Amino acid sequence: MTKKAFRSQQWFNDLKNPDNTSLYLGWFMNYGISLEELRSGKPIIGIAQTGSDLSPCNRHHMVLADRVRSGIIEAGGIPFEFPVHPIQETAKRPTAGLDRNLAYLGLVEVLLGYPIDGVVLTIGCDKTTPACLMAAATMNIPAIALSVGPMLNGWHEGQRTGSGTIAWKARELLAAGEIDEEGFIKLVASSAPSTGYCNTMGTATTMNSLTEALGMSLPGSAAIPAPHRDRAECAWRTGKAIVEMVHADRKPSDILTRDAFLNAIVVNSSIGGSSNAPIHLIALARHMGVDLTLEDWQTFGRDVPLMVNLQPAGQYLGEDYFRAGGVPAVAGELLRAGLLRGGAMTANGRTLEDNCLDARILDEDVIRPFDRPLKSAAGFSVLKGNLFDSAIMKLSVISDDFRARYLSDPEDPEAFEGPVAVFDGPEHYHRVIDDPSLGIDERTILVMRGTGPLGYPGAAEVVNMRPPAYLLERGIRSLPCVGDGRQSGTSGSPSILNASPEAAAGGGLALLRTGDRVRIDLRCGSANALVPEEEWAARRLELDMSGGYVSPASQSPWQELQRAWIGQLQTGAVLEPAIKHQRLAQT
Ligand code: FES
Ligand code: MG
Repeated sequence: MTKKAFRSQQWFNDLKNPDNTSLYLGWFMNYGISLEELRSGKPIIGIAQTGSDLSPCNRHHMVLADRVRSGIIEAGGIPFEFPVHPIQETAKRPTAGLDRNLAYLGLVEVLLGYPIDGVVLTIGCDKTTPACLMAAATMNIPAIALSVGPMLNGWHEGQRTGSGTIAWKARELLAAGEIDEEGFIKLVASSAPSTGYCNTMGTATTMNSLTEALGMSLPGSAAIPAPHRDRAECAWRTGKAIVEMVHADRKPSDILTRDAFLNAIVVNSSIGGSSNAPIHLIALARHMGVDLTLEDWQTFGRDVPLMVNLQPAGQYLGEDYFRAGGVPAVAGELLRAGLLRGGAMTANGRTLEDNCLDARILDEDVIRPFDRPLKSAAGFSVLKGNLFDSAIMKLSVISDDFRARYLSDPEDPEAFEGPVAVFDGPEHYHRVIDDPSLGIDERTILVMRGTGPLGYPGAAEVVNMRPPAYLLERGIRSLPCVGDGRQSGTSGSPSILNASPEAAAGGGLALLRTGDRVRIDLRCGSANALVPEEEWAARRLELDMSGGYVSPASQSPWQELQRAWIGQLQTGAVLEPAIKHQRLAQT
């Protein structure tokens, strides 16, 4: 390997500024690292640690970091591990949606302000992945992601219980009186049997798979379950790989090209990926300076078939996905079918085609061959109308009945239409949903508003709403849901979500009233309130005169700051002023 002066040498070997250099050196040496090491010219490799006791999904990274360190040292680098702002999807109040951009900001500042030549991003739980990738994109120093891996499969009475997915089912059973609280907890706890992130195709498995599809992690790395020996070996290989990347000066801008993002869109449809993926990938592309829009998801992803049979769209879980071949098996099929741009560069210096063209499916029930998929057209449908400029619907979770009726015949499209029940945030919904006087029946469309990036800071995962208990007792398990918030990737609810602009930003949902009729046409991608135009305009005027849709006050300084800067879900919900700061390592 050729010797070159790394960025870190500005801290440790700057002969033009010996005062500074001695200050930097002295304090780093206080725990025993030697002058010889710091002046060796070896690259300093950051390990951005997202694991902690507050983040159970990523906690195993605290163990894996030792193997990463060994790999870095083996390849001739010096590891510096440091903490990233913790994000735990299931525990953060009011919503973990607040924290992706905060962790992003913190990591950019660390990577910019400290002597780091390359970085291992320890990814896993939903928002830890986009937060880390976004920061690496903004900095544009060599970076590679290490997934913590999914939990082992959950089991209950001989059935697979998927994390997240079983929780949505359990809340229905509880509301219908079919289980008690003890049964509820038992069922949910069964789905989380080991260290690692959710074992379903929720946002975590989705984002870790897409990180690999983008080329930002080693091939085959996403699906390895957290406790497996292969996971620890992968950590060691990732440590070795980042040192090579630094010597080769292989940066995010070499990997995160438009081709790579289009590949990720295709892979997302074929795995039945989360409805949070468009938000995070558009955010990442914008920080990288790559053009990517919601329309690209419709154009390149909508008609791609579902190949991966994982909950919530299918039946299996993470261990099965790993044994069936994981992302390389999926990418191999898609490459041979001509759907991927095989020349896209990846972290290991090889193209996607080099890595995956020969990869084969090892269990065709878990990963279906491209020509025998579980479902056709399994991407996202993008909708618009007088209710919003854009919202998405995840087609991989739509039932066959619904699909046959509303999606299959382009010559004879049928729209679904019904009266709405409108809720202003999850607290309102929980308070009133079981009240029969609301008149909710099997034709009702449930609408959740006030839950976008401004209304419920960061955007809450609350659009998938269960029907009232009295309908559940009659066997009605779901109603159509529409909302300006998000939905957990582990939910199989065929909701229309991520509506932009949200009610709090003046979107049409703010004008809707309980009892209005809404018509949704999936073939032509429209969603409209059937309210006469004059009436709609009068409501708009009334809302504007009253000062707009009222959201709860910010509860913290960060909520206040983020509300001032954040954009809508359609454009990635990024901190808009941050976008102009790009490729900081070169400036
Ligand atoms: Fe962390 Fe699902 S809650 S990955
Ligand atoms: Mg989530």
